[in-house]
Amino acid sequence: MEKLQVSLGERSYPILIGPGLLGDSDLLVDSIPAAQVLVVSNETVAPLYLSKLEQALASKQKRVLILPDGEEEKSLSTLSKIVDELVAAGFHRDACLVALGGGVIGDLTGFAAACYQRGIDYVQVPTTLLAQVDSSVGGKTAVNHPKAKNMIGAFHQPLCVLADTDTLATLPEREFSAGLAEVIKHGLILEDAFFCWLEDHIADVLTQKPDALTYLIRRSCEIKAAIVAEDELEKGRRALLNLGHTFGHALESLSGYGKWLHGEAVAIGIAMAARTSMELGMIKSVDCDRIQSLIIQAGLPVTASGIEPDALIELMHIDKKARAQGLKMVLLEGVGKGILHNAPDESILRNAIQAQLTG
Ligand SMILES: NC(=O)c1ccc[n+]([C@@H]2O[C@H](COP(=O)([O-])OP(=O)(O)OC[C@H]3O[C@@H](n4cnc5c(N)ncnc54)[C@H](O)[C@@H]3O)[C@@H](O)[C@H]2O)c1
Ligand SMILES: [Zn+2]
Repeated sequence: MEKLQVSLGERSYPILIGPGLLGDSDLLVDSIPAAQVLVVSNETVAPLYLSKLEQALASKQKRVLILPDGEEEKSLSTLSKIVDELVAAGFHRDACLVALGGGVIGDLTGFAAACYQRGIDYVQVPTTLLAQVDSSVGGKTAVNHPKAKNMIGAFHQPLCVLADTDTLATLPEREFSAGLAEVIKHGLILEDAFFCWLEDHIADVLTQKPDALTYLIRRSCEIKAAIVAEDELEKGRRALLNLGHTFGHALESLSGYGKWLHGEAVAIGIAMAARTSMELGMIKSVDCDRIQSLIIQAGLPVTASGIEPDALIELMHIDKKARAQGLKMVLLEGVGKGILHNAPDESILRNAIQAQLTG
């Protein structure tokens, strides 16, 4: 088992990564010290992993809430269901929520924990690659507004993150690849050596060789944790984690949520950001090719079809990351070197988008 720390003063917490964590009751009891526990999961994940967690927490006053699967559950009405459950159980301020699932369950449960009695503890037990490398770390919690993703939320750090790598064995391949988009992003913005490691080990990663998987999750969490430790509330540097996301969010909303998984839209967005950086003379074309090649090898798309570049650009301007002083976006000055940059001229953006369109 690997252990690393997110350093945030009194809000610091450990991330534990490795196989078999859910079968380790001592570890679970140590990590979830509260006497009252509400486990939140969904109809896909609960039949696979809930019983292990329940066995380990047998000594606690415990409730379980199993929600339908899907992004639609990241809503205020589902948040109410969690609060109803906590109130019905008579849970106090020292109760703890446990999020067993992917990013949807993690974001929703984390936000419920942030709201209940103005903030109680929660533990992340992420079961998708995306959640293990990205969403469970850093304390961003939210639900969606019908018109905008993640529009209602809070920063609320978990008590700990328990990433059992064995759970990834049941994850559909497409979901696994979607998580890799965020991993590639972490290498690209901050660490050339990690990007090179991914190029060399992508085959082992795709077949989920245990050592490769644990290393990949650990490095990814370390990179994210370092950025979060520097800028917890995204006043500056944390924005680097949005590489590919300004294009990606616009692609998701232009094509209707559901066509692409988030990680797939981000993968195309990273390809577009790399192309924009190349058009601006910030990176060489060989690097742009390397980036596209790794994304493709990870089983992800780099091109979109049926998209009108100007419609995409318009949507990019209403992304919530766009600020009053104009659109900023994350570009690359090299592999492993992301920078927050003013959006370039629209003609450059249009060319970069066009280069990633087919049909
Ligand atoms: N908080 C953050 O910093 C942050 C960062 C990135 C993404 N997010 C959010 O995360 C969400 C996406 O997360 P996701 O990609 O994990 O999606 P998800 O939670 O919808 O999970 C994807 C699918 O895999 C299923 N699943 C989960 N674990 C499984 C397992 N072990 N075996 C089989 N199936 C399993 C889920 O039930 C679901 O059908 C989005 O809502 C996004 O906004 C948040
Ligand atoms: Zn993302």
